[in-house]
Formats: sequence, structure tokens, C-alpha cells
Amino acid sequence: MSSGGTFEAGAMPPLVRTPRPPDDLPSPDPRDELPVSDVLPFERPASPSPVTEPVMGPTGRPMPVLPEPGPVVSHGRARVVSMCNQKGGVGKTTTTINLGASLAEYGRKVLLVDFDPQGSLSVGLGLNPHEMELSIYNLLMEKDVTLQDVVVPTGVAGMDLLPSNIDLSAAEVQLVHEVAREQTLQRVLAPALSEYDVILIDCQPSLGLLTVNALTASDGVIVPLECEYFALRGVALLKTTIDKVRERLNPKLEIYGVLGTMYDGRTLHSREVMDRLVQAWGDTVFHTVIRRTVKFSDATVAGEPITAYASSSAGADSYRQLAREVLARWPDE
Ligand SMILES: Nc1ncnc2c1ncn2[C@@H]1O[C@H](COP(=O)(O)OP(=O)(O)OP(=O)(O)O)[C@@H](O)[C@H]1O
Ligand SMILES: [Mg+2]
Repeated sequence: MSSGGTFEAGAMPPLVRTPRPPDDLPSPDPRDELPVSDVLPFERPASPSPVTEPVMGPTGRPMPVLPEPGPVVSHGRARVVSMCNQKGGVGKTTTTINLGASLAEYGRKVLLVDFDPQGSLSVGLGLNPHEMELSIYNLLMEKDVTLQDVVVPTGVAGMDLLPSNIDLSAAEVQLVHEVAREQTLQRVLAPALSEYDVILIDCQPSLGLLTVNALTASDGVIVPLECEYFALRGVALLKTTIDKVRERLNPKLEIYGVLGTMYDGRTLHSREVMDRLVQAWGDTVFHTVIRRTVKFSDATVAGEPITAYASSSAGADSYRQLAREVLARWPDE
């Protein structure tokens, strides 16, 4: 997948409203359950072979059929993915936890990296920021601290965490004086590449040195974007930053996809924002969208991914679908 479309804030494409099927389809007719002979008192006429209509997804495009991911034969050569958007509260941390947990359910070995001094990812997985002996700050700044010293298991089998707390904010200042300051995270993550299949980095809401470190260490970026008009405004600046990092520091950096979050299909507004997103970014926009539901906040309070807290909820299913879509975009998966 290439880096997708352009998105100039001042030159957005004209708004075209496309008709869309209602979100909640009527429940199936109970007569469908009856034996055919009860419903049809006469012989069924020969019907032409059925034509399957493509199912329209919430992004206004036909939903692809996403295969169940196959098992992993041997772990390693991790793909590193940054969850990045300088706008706050768009679902970066929620996506890191739940995409990670879904990939782990599909048998992938996952390392989550909390790269935000707010430490929300660590808290969202049940850690107390004041009780951490070591955090990613120590790994970045102290030579004798190893990855194994800092990694902790999570409640999800196959998913580990490099935790963070407010200490990390000091790293942003201290790294400025380091040689190869933009490559510090890449250097400390190198030993993890052979251990894991996927490394997900939860970025802080800024485009400062920590985020540049995350982009330099990554193979690709996922941009969570709230389905709300103002959320579109910063995307051009984010794209410029990603392009600069690709040119100057990390030529392999791709945009794996843009993910619509907090989508409410009942509002015209959410659907219009989604239409604009698809007009501007085309197939870079994931077919999967994450709907707005309070279950995500409840899961955070419980310190669990939604895939564990409410395993059969629509939110959990959406993140499993996202995991299938992400894996399908990776050619060697
Ligand atoms: N799909 C959703 N529906 C409803 N609430 C959501 C959804 N996704 C996330 N939230 C809630 O929105 C808030 C912000 O989400 P989250 O912390 O994932 O965003 P963020 O981009 O990581 O924020 P920050 O920029 O501060 O790190 C949280 O309270 C979270 O529980
Ligand atoms: Mg966050």
C-alpha cells in the first residue's frame, strides 16, 4: 500500500452525498425460518442462478471478503507500526490495545510500546504508573537497561508491553543532545524484531521528537481519525511529517491505512466526513470503521482490551475485522 492521496486542508474535494443503505438492516423475516413447503403452496418456479450483490460498507465502498488469517509457522521479523495522529483523543491508544489483542487472538506475537508520557496504554492494560520500576524511559536513556528488563506481560496471551509513565516527557528534552537522537527508539527495539510478529507503537498527540523516533523505527503508520469534521484539519500536516521522515530518515516508511473511529452511522455528519475521507485518501482508508460506543471507556476502566472485556460486542468484532484487514494488506502474511 502506498502513501495514499493528498489532503490539502484548503482544497478539500467537493462534498458529494452518495445514497447509502441504512446501518441497521431490518431483522430477518421470521417466515424465512419456516419450511419452504409452508410458505410456498405451489411448486417453486425455476429461478435464475442467484447473483450476490456486493455488501456496501460504512465507507460507501463494497466490503471485501477478508480471509481468516492463517497460523504463523515461526515468529519473528516483526513489522513495526506506529499509531499516529497529533490530534488528541482520536483513538490511537484504543486502537493499539484492541488491534494488538486481536492480532494476538490470530496467533501473532505482539509487543505494544507505550510511547506517550500520559501512559494511557499502560493504564488501559491495568498497570499503575506510580508503581512501575522501569519504563521505556530507562530503556531509552540508560545503557545497562535491556529490553527484557522492561517488557511486562499483559493479561492477553501472546501480547507484551513496554510501559511508560510521565518520566518519558524528560526523554523528549534529554534526547535533543544525543547523537542520532531520531534513531534512539529504533536502536532499543532492534532486539525485539526477532521475537515478535508485530510491534505497535502508541504515539503521543504531537509531532515532536518522540513521534519522529516512532516513525523512524516503523515500517508503516496507521492513522486513527475521529469521524468529526475538525479531525480532518490536521491530516495535511501529519502527511507532511510522514513524508519528511520518509525522505530524511526512513525510506521504507509507508502509510498502512487511515482508520475512521467513533463513527456514528445515524448521523449525516459522520457519513459526510467518511465520504470526504474516501474522496481524499481512496483505498488507503480502511473498510473497517470503529463505531462510537461507551464499551471502550468501560473496558479502559476495567484495564482490559474490549476483545476480553466484551468479547462478543460489535466493538470487539470491529477490531478483529481491522486485524484481518491489516494482515491482508501485508503481502507476506
Ligand atoms: N470508538 C469509540 N467509541 C467511543 N469512545 C471511544 C472510542 N474509541 C476511543 N474512545 C474513548 O475516547 C477516549 C480517547 O480515546 P484514546 O485514548 O484511544 O485516544 P488517543 O488518540 O489515544 O488520545 P491521546 O491523544 O490523548 O493519546 C477514551 O476515553 C476512549 O475510551
Ligand atoms: Mg493515547
